[in-house]
Amino acid sequence: MKPDKQVEAKIDALLAQMTLEEKIAQMVQIPYPMLGREESLRWAERGAGSFLHVLEKEAQEVQETALRSRLGIPVLFGIDAVRGHALNDHATIFPTQLACACTWDKDLLRRMGRVTAKEVAADGLHWTFSPLLCLARDTRWGRCNETFGEDPYLTGELASAMIQGYQGEDLADEDSILACAKHYIAYGEAVGARDACDSELTYRKIREVFLPPFQKAVDAGCATIMSAYGSIDGLPLTADACALRDILRTELGFRGFVVTDWQNVTSLVDKQFLAENADAAACLAAAAGNDMIMSSPEFFDSALRMVRSGKLSERIIEEAVRNILRIKLQMGLWERAAKSVKKADIGCEAHQSLALEMARRSLCLLKNDGVLPLTERIKSITVIGANADDIRAQYGDWTYFSHPLPHPEHPPIRPYTTIREGIETLAKTHGISCRYAYGAGPLHSEKDDLEEALDIAKQADAVIYVVGDEISQVGEGKDRADLALSGRQEELLLRLLALRVPLICVLAASKPLAICSAAAQAQAVIAAFNGGAHGGQAIAELLFGKCNPSGRLPISFPRHSGQLPVYYNQLPGWHGENNVGKYCDLPAAPLYAFGEGLGYSAFGYQNLRMDAETLTASVEVTNLGERQGLETVQIYFRDLVSSLLTPVKQLIAYEQVLLMPGETKCLSFQLRKMNFSMVNRTGERVVEPGRFLLMAGHSSKDEDLLRCEFALA
Ligand code: NOJ
Repeated sequence: MKPDKQVEAKIDALLAQMTLEEKIAQMVQIPYPMLGREESLRWAERGAGSFLHVLEKEAQEVQETALRSRLGIPVLFGIDAVRGHALNDHATIFPTQLACACTWDKDLLRRMGRVTAKEVAADGLHWTFSPLLCLARDTRWGRCNETFGEDPYLTGELASAMIQGYQGEDLADEDSILACAKHYIAYGEAVGARDACDSELTYRKIREVFLPPFQKAVDAGCATIMSAYGSIDGLPLTADACALRDILRTELGFRGFVVTDWQNVTSLVDKQFLAENADAAACLAAAAGNDMIMSSPEFFDSALRMVRSGKLSERIIEEAVRNILRIKLQMGLWERAAKSVKKADIGCEAHQSLALEMARRSLCLLKNDGVLPLTERIKSITVIGANADDIRAQYGDWTYFSHPLPHPEHPPIRPYTTIREGIETLAKTHGISCRYAYGAGPLHSEKDDLEEALDIAKQADAVIYVVGDEISQVGEGKDRADLALSGRQEELLLRLLALRVPLICVLAASKPLAICSAAAQAQAVIAAFNGGAHGGQAIAELLFGKCNPSGRLPISFPRHSGQLPVYYNQLPGWHGENNVGKYCDLPAAPLYAFGEGLGYSAFGYQNLRMDAETLTASVEVTNLGERQGLETVQIYFRDLVSSLLTPVKQLIAYEQVLLMPGETKCLSFQLRKMNFSMVNRTGERVVEPGRFLLMAGHSSKDEDLLRCEFALA
């Protein structure tokens, strides 16, 4: 976003007319459902800059009220449209961001962003609080489902594609919406994976691991950034001027506006004990560089008092208002507010088919001893598991069933296909008989019936057992200390395995769970995560071979919660295999590693070369199977000698290639010197001359990678 003289002149003109009250009101974002209609409308009259979580007629009424206010500055409406516009019950519901990340496909993410933008804009709203750039490294965290997984490179690539999709060619286009990169910064790294607690990190580490995705988001023109709930080494982000001003604006070059997370300012007083009272909290938050204050409306009175008493400079308020008005002008908010919206696009067929494509591409086949795709020898199958027959669990978090307008009793709205329905439909077309039993669910319940499930499993040629979690185990404040299968799911799994009927285990969950018994003894394992409306159809297509799985894990699977964190790009340690430490009672290696995923064709790699002069890497890939397949060629590096510890491997590039049976292609990667950089003690990103290792292959696992050494001067 370049400075535009015309826009700046308009901001000057507006500011010149605004009273102090009107300026501060622009900074306030009102939570409509929390305050209710009457109070919300009073805020609109007063000139509140933004509202969140309000839809349809109610939003329209707020906007009309704002337009009738003294200056008539239109309201900016924000919503958590984080997986499509999924808080609207008629919108297209995509897989969760984590499931989408399994595609590793930037173009798909961009297209999903576009579809979401069209649906949000068709509802008269302007801004989504997405994408989420936190890294899911300690997967006990309740919000892993909202991330792109554990890796900073992949996260940055997918996030910037999604931002481009949301914001379109031009912010002023009527189907463009604002993106919001959140939560700035290192929010997912809270100690013990306990949501919104302190992150025990240095700013060197933040620059090395957590900042790069935000840099890419800023470079992609992301209009807004959300400051996190948490704190870094004792200082809440809400009060961290170094993070919000020096790093974000000066170093990263951000030119949009910063919105706080929910009640961040209030929490400086009653949760983080940094401020004596609301007035002190308002001063801290404004001075640190938060432009818009989400859901802490007391900020208004406090800021007013503090400016009047000379404790908060009006210049700081004006700067925040400038940042907000600039975006409002750039997106043509006045013109948009004057037009009536067209609802035509919401949930349309073209959008649903993209959600289906995303669901197919998101499936990660993690084990297959040959049982899949199901062959003609299979005449009868039994589907077991609560999550096979539960659209709420299939959806997971952030749809109209869950946040933040809680409608747990909301009837599910079609189109959607549960896993059970998807399998029953395809089984029928193949002339296969199909039965279903609830068996066990993620929570203990009266519906649990292991005996019935075992009984019908015995009579089948193959069992599809769907395990996972459900909404009450997912999301904000729902961190889990134990990632083993909950309820009686593991008990049933062991008893099903003992039957020796071929068993395919499907994980329909918000995140990796410790599915060791399935990994060891089931004939096939599929990580499906939360596949959205068409997840059930996609899984069925994979089972019957109608779709060739191509998902790759963006996140590592632990064997046990006690192994966490188990991300692939660890720093080297003294003991254990591959320098990543060890336990005396478990290996340090994950159950399934970052980048893993099988298809119905295998791929072979040969001839990895690196030209250190031109920084071009090349490698040949062959489809060894009998079906056309999509391979994700992954490039990692390791700095062999460095002045500080650097990761045992780090992803720096990847490309997806479609290969016919027997076909070989040579892929080349134009790398840059900065791909091989590290952050030194003084916080600078540098490339230290010396020896490096380049690795290329199918996943981050050592046995999947070719290596070659090269030197940089
Ligand atoms: C709190 C969450 O942390 C954030 O991700 C979300 O966008 C806001 N609430 C608004 O719902």
